[in-house]
Amino acid sequence: MSKIDVVLGLNYGDEGKGKVSTFLSQNADIALRCTGGNNAGHTVEFNGSKIIFHLIPSGILNDKTEGVIGNGVVIDPRVLFEEISFLKDQGVDLSKLHISTRAHLIFPYHIAEDKLEEFLKGDDKVGTTARGIGPCYMDKANRIGLRVIDMYNPNFEKKLRRNIANKNKVFKLFGFDTLDEDAIVKDYLNYRDMLKPYVTDTVLYLHNALDENKNIICEGAQATGLDMDLGDYPMVTSSNPTIGGIQTGSGLSHKDLTNVYGVCKAYASRVGEGPFITEQNNEIGDTIRELGHEYGATTKRPRRCGWMDLVALKYAVRVNGITGLVVNHLDTIGKLGKSKLCVGYKLDDKVYTEYSDDVIGRESEVEPIYEEFTTNFNIEKETNYDNLPDAAKEYIKAIENHLGVPVKFIGTGPSNEDMIIR
Ligand code: GDP
Ligand code: IMO
Ligand code: MG
Repeated sequence: MSKIDVVLGLNYGDEGKGKVSTFLSQNADIALRCTGGNNAGHTVEFNGSKIIFHLIPSGILNDKTEGVIGNGVVIDPRVLFEEISFLKDQGVDLSKLHISTRAHLIFPYHIAEDKLEEFLKGDDKVGTTARGIGPCYMDKANRIGLRVIDMYNPNFEKKLRRNIANKNKVFKLFGFDTLDEDAIVKDYLNYRDMLKPYVTDTVLYLHNALDENKNIICEGAQATGLDMDLGDYPMVTSSNPTIGGIQTGSGLSHKDLTNVYGVCKAYASRVGEGPFITEQNNEIGDTIRELGHEYGATTKRPRRCGWMDLVALKYAVRVNGITGLVVNHLDTIGKLGKSKLCVGYKLDDKVYTEYSDDVIGRESEVEPIYEEFTTNFNIEKETNYDNLPDAAKEYIKAIENHLGVPVKFIGTGPSNEDMIIR
């Protein structure tokens, strides 16, 4: 029987999905990305080197693991080929990479539109990564997007020129620089040839792999809080990083899935704008940022930091059908001395222990209810649960009790070896 394990972010991204996915894919036949694009930054410390993945599933680092970029991913070819070239220099065999015919392409006009949209939103800006992700998914929904397979259609150049010309009219209207149509067409005709060896009918490829009893690890990108349906709309990304996105973004069916691991940190972080009920916009947050090295892997922006929010996490566990949790950065809170877990929200004198839409738009009025824990332990690089001090075990048990899901893996450092398996 084949096994498909899914790794999903439960907060606002950057929970350590890359590290966990590399770790879990050690014996996997295929590592798969299904959603998002190069808004993702997945940091992996592997055999002593630090690598940040944006598009390629990190499991490709394992010699025997094939990499698949599924149909739900949006691909900026410039970034893809930078990543390919970097990985080749690291000695990774890129003939193992397969890219979906149906994946949509990001063009320079999407990046310009991303900046224009943010400018027009003014104070309501989302704080996007400015990588053109939202506009690319907008064009996909608007049925003017161009997919990998479309590059090999004789109409490709005509459709691309029409898109560029139309987008330029909008840029001109708002006083933004227009884009060089011929230069873009030339670049993308070149990318068409460069992409050719990787292009695969990935839906068929994955289903054939299942027939051959192969194991697959799906590396989620972004997270539940950023999901455009189930997250903090409109302060979200333009895709579905929750479990449904894994299926629509790969063509794999729900009945093929085995374990769905939800990744969180022993504290919380968010990059970009939007609500963050347990944010510590103070010295505590600054300390967490420095101890956890919380600076964006994609944009280098300082991440906003705060306490773990078990109310939001319970919601994320439910909507994704999480079967096991991964709690990273337990080593980091061990350096804080004291840490808090948010176990409820107080709003209008009412206490909420389940996430409720009553808080939508009123997040800044919510008073988090905390339980405090002593977290003064040095557990860096620990790999054995039995060696953890009682204080660390109590913290993990409190998370399990509130969320009703077992903690299967605990992160004790940035390397993929710094993991406790339970
Ligand atoms: P992703 O986007 O979910 O893959 O996460 P990022 O790579 O953006 O951010 C996670 C950060 O935490 C990276 O710098 C990782 O190296 C680091 N990290 C992951 N797990 C742990 C852990 O258990 N302990 C420590 N100290 N660092 C970790
Ligand atoms: P990984 O996979 C953290 C955030 C952006 C912004 C919002 C919308 O590394 O966890 P977008 O560019 O997607 O339109 O931006 O989503 N965001 C992330 N934050 N980690 C990510 O990915 C993110 N991908 C998008 O900061 O608030
Ligand atoms: Mg990240």
